Amino acid sequence: MILNRIVYRIGLAILISVAGVSGAWAADDARGQQLYNLCAQCHGTNGGGNEVYLAPAIAGMDQWYIESQLKMFRSGARGTHPEDVGGMRMHPMSRWLKKDEDITAVASYVSSMPGARPTPTVAGGNLDAGKTYYQTCAACHGPEGQGDEAKNAPALAHASDWYLVSALEKYKAGIRGGNPANSNAVLMRGMSNILPNQQAIVDVVTYIDTLNN
Ligand code: HEC
Ligand code: HEC
Repeated sequence: MILNRIVYRIGLAILISVAGVSGAWAADDARGQQLYNLCAQCHGTNGGGNEVYLAPAIAGMDQWYIESQLKMFRSGARGTHPEDVGGMRMHPMSRWLKKDEDITAVASYVSSMPGARPTPTVAGGNLDAGKTYYQTCAACHGPEGQGDEAKNAPALAHASDWYLVSALEKYKAGIRGGNPANSNAVLMRGMSNILPNQQAIVDVVTYIDTLNN
């Protein structure tokens, strides 16, 4: 009898805690969706990006990467170089996310969206040369461009190709990765030298475009 009662109580406690957790999750999800209304103005309702605003596709990106970038933008470690036109648009937006819980909520919402499949826009690339370059990139970004959290390397598949070109140009010029507070960007700035020139950037992005499956 006593045992029955204890088992019942434990069961009830588990039930309540599970309900509590899923309740909190639902609240976060609603918050994430609400916050995303702001983001949608540039990144699009489906997160597919909009080149006119220089806003890349972000739908389906890994939550850890979205969170890390929102924090970098918010602290000014990304998006404050005077020649970083796109970054300087995103930097003030990140400041709307005052609480870390808001960053987590919106990042969770964005990562739950189906991965974007932006139409390729980059022309004039040599696919074979790009594939050869990409072998080095794959060590961190993965053979399918799926990213690797252990290396802080984001997914490159499902990205806007014009954005990948601009990101690589910015790393090479030190417009991104010039701030020591952003150590991952500093690392990638060094890696961008694997690509000797503009044609190599176009070649490797042409190859990355084939990984969108
Ligand atoms: C005014 C337009 C605008 C709004 C609104 C906006 N963004 Fe951005 N966002 C940009 C631009 C432009 C970039 C590209 C920055 C660059 O070129 O480095 C960007 C970049 C990003 C990136 C980095 C992507 C990557 O691959 O590194 C993330 C993540 C992001 N935005 C998330 C958000 C979220 C979440 C919101 C809403 C809270 C938001 N953005 C609102 C314009 C905007
Ligand atoms: C040693 C590991 C490593 C290698 C090799 C490497 N990367 Fe990266 N890459 C990173 C890391 C870490 C980041 C995140 C940098 C940041 O937070 O700004 C990154 C970021 C990027 C970004 C920005 C993505 C975004 O959404 O903004 C692009 C584009 C990129 N890498 C392309 C390449 C290409 C192309 C190569 C090969 C020529 C390459 N990377 C090789 C580690 C690597």
